[in-house]
Amino acid sequence: MLALLLALLAQRQTQNFDHAWRFHLGDVPGAQETAFDDAAWRTLDLPHDWSIEGEFSEQNPAGVAGGALPGGVGWYRKTFTVPARDSGKVVFVEFDGVYRKSEVWINGQYLGKRPYGYSSFRYELTPNVRFGAGRNVIAVRVDNSQQPNSRWYSGSGIYRHVRLVTSDPMHVAQWGTYITTPVVSVDSSHVTIRTSLRNERQVEQPIVLSTVVYDSAGREVAAVSTMGRIPGDSVAELVQDLTVSRPVLWSVERPYLYRAVSRVRCGNRLCDTYTTPFGVRSFVFRADSGFFLNGRPVKIRGVCLHHDLGALGAAVNTRAIERQLQIMRAMGVNALRTSHNPPAPELLDLTDRMGFVVMDEAFDMWKKEKTPYDYHLDWDAWHVRDLSDMVLRDRNHASVFIWSIGNEVMEQWNNGDSTAAPIARELAGIVRALDPTRPITQAANNGSPQNPVFHAGALDLLGHNYHHEVWADFPTQYPGAKFIITEAMSALNSRGVYDQPSPSESIAVYYTPYEKDKGPQPPKNGRLSSYDNRRAFWGSLHEESLRLFERYPFLSGIFVWQGIDYLGEPTPYEWPARSSYFGVVDLAGFPKDPFYLYQSVWTEQPMLHLLPHWNWTPGDTIDVWAYTNADEVELFLNGTSLGTKRKPEPVSHLMWRVAYTPGTLRAVSRKEGRVWATAEVRTAGAPVRVALAPDRARLRANGDDLSFVTVTVQDRAGALVPTAEPLIRFRLSGGDARIVGVDNGDQTSHTSFKANQVRLFNGKALVIIRAGTRPGTVTLTAAGDGLTPSAVPLQLR
Ligand code: GAL
Repeated sequence: MLALLLALLAQRQTQNFDHAWRFHLGDVPGAQETAFDDAAWRTLDLPHDWSIEGEFSEQNPAGVAGGALPGGVGWYRKTFTVPARDSGKVVFVEFDGVYRKSEVWINGQYLGKRPYGYSSFRYELTPNVRFGAGRNVIAVRVDNSQQPNSRWYSGSGIYRHVRLVTSDPMHVAQWGTYITTPVVSVDSSHVTIRTSLRNERQVEQPIVLSTVVYDSAGREVAAVSTMGRIPGDSVAELVQDLTVSRPVLWSVERPYLYRAVSRVRCGNRLCDTYTTPFGVRSFVFRADSGFFLNGRPVKIRGVCLHHDLGALGAAVNTRAIERQLQIMRAMGVNALRTSHNPPAPELLDLTDRMGFVVMDEAFDMWKKEKTPYDYHLDWDAWHVRDLSDMVLRDRNHASVFIWSIGNEVMEQWNNGDSTAAPIARELAGIVRALDPTRPITQAANNGSPQNPVFHAGALDLLGHNYHHEVWADFPTQYPGAKFIITEAMSALNSRGVYDQPSPSESIAVYYTPYEKDKGPQPPKNGRLSSYDNRRAFWGSLHEESLRLFERYPFLSGIFVWQGIDYLGEPTPYEWPARSSYFGVVDLAGFPKDPFYLYQSVWTEQPMLHLLPHWNWTPGDTIDVWAYTNADEVELFLNGTSLGTKRKPEPVSHLMWRVAYTPGTLRAVSRKEGRVWATAEVRTAGAPVRVALAPDRARLRANGDDLSFVTVTVQDRAGALVPTAEPLIRFRLSGGDARIVGVDNGDQTSHTSFKANQVRLFNGKALVIIRAGTRPGTVTLTAAGDGLTPSAVPLQLR
């Protein structure tokens, strides 16, 4: 018993270090000093993003490209103790990401800085930490004052998790395991585990490294032990090979994970235990026929995602990320591109578990700038470290299957530029040295055969953005090359907006605010029609690129720009717009209509979607569209058939031009003559009551869990009123929960995301409730002028 206790004490302890930080917005001289008085500072829990708490303003220096929210300098301090029993141990603080230019001190001692806001890093505290009753102060200065430094909303602050790790001086190094599966077959697979062991003592340490592989039910399936001697003050790598018989392979349909548990014994003592989830899978890209996962062809149907979580900003929340992925999954997506930076670790844990393949991307720029204060200023000093750390951190994730060394870097444009190819080769070399198992790409929007990056000999996979008209030429232009469409579409829509008429005669191509005189002006109200007929000049309508993509077998995959609207980059607008129009889903997570185009091509469950709503003025001529994965659709208005239309090809919509009369529009889709799915839209009357629909009525009382509550208004008969835009006020009562965000998906709304009221936008809004830690029931009430209020109970357990 005592031995067990001692063994436990000797082991690594990983403590959540998010709780009870002090925060001050603004620079403060001397705030790194232990004795500094922070009593007047605000107390908060991490992850935290101070920008999202700010007010939208045209004056904020990030500009609308950065979401028109404030940057600045912020300080965080945390006071903590480390038990005396840990005094023989080593202590680290681990940050998953701080935006940006963080500097960290422990007890007044400077530990270092990290300019790139998307890198994960840690510092050793051991020499400066006090063990026992003495208090320690960690201070973090975050500087996001130099603006603009990003082409999208970054957030500001310690926006990802922080941990305190204590371990024996003899331990598995940071990101110290590297697991590969050199031979994958359903009969038996080889697993190679390289473990970096760090000995911080000055004397050599004999060890035994035992690695056990467990299946997802916790059963041991393979084990190996290796003896070693780790010289004093050094890091040594041990390589172990294992065989897993009849492995369950990781796939997008069945994302099966194993766990490798590494135990380091120092004589009789257990010095460290370290767990690495991994998957057994093989994949290959072929020039003529695309991507194969475990020997089976899989079309990579992906989306690009920025890292913000809408109204929650950049502050990481696992449930919020999971919800985004669930919405993407319902659209038929099986792949993500982490545009244009390393993601939060939680995202990759989720993609591992949920079965998405991921293109993990390092940079949006290299040495040449895109915005005046961006990472190009840090390039020389930091790119080797930042790129290496991304690969080291992420290379065990089953879901990560492509490394991207950059997006649309400026170097690709200058044909005479001598820097593009050497940088590409340098970066690819860094990645390959750390992980030769995954192909390397970069996302190029200079698709010309002269693009120097394509010719650098650095890339395994040519990543191409936009210009679908040249896709057909790839195989002849680049014989033998493997292709992926790293970015496409950039269509522009606002949810629930339907300008008439809809079809080709009214396709609009928009320019950025800087080039606005080149084309038609977008409507002044900031609302872009949601029929798939609005796009950026460099992009395409959803249907156009999707149709071509599905046709060409040599294209292994596509990443739609963008899965979900994000803060910043409101092309084609400037202020008062402040978030993107590119999403297939709006900022609040509500699908726009093109979502159903993807569903009709990328999913097999019977589906049929009708648009627009059916609240118009008698006499209007309305274009009715249907998306379905059946063969044909018959449309009925108030019981009268308006005819059956057959899908001309798999990627298409059907359209009827209809003289509007109020009532019920009903559609029936058929496949091989049988009814496949039905859909209906009804004319709604005046709004009389508020309706609340939580995605979860039961929450875990863990301080983190969220309920995303959809807010609508209904007419007397209970029909949703699609055009209503009343202001709705929220109140929470009776328990331990908070309103942490409101949104409606309107790109021009200036209501603070932290308000407790929001206007509906085309009939919908969202309120996000965060659970506290006390079990019980809270009631969310929503009220609007002249409307019957609504209340829902949420249970915290
Ligand atoms: C691409 C770029 C993205 C985004 C997009 C908008 O060129 O890589 O970051 O700006 O355009 O269409």
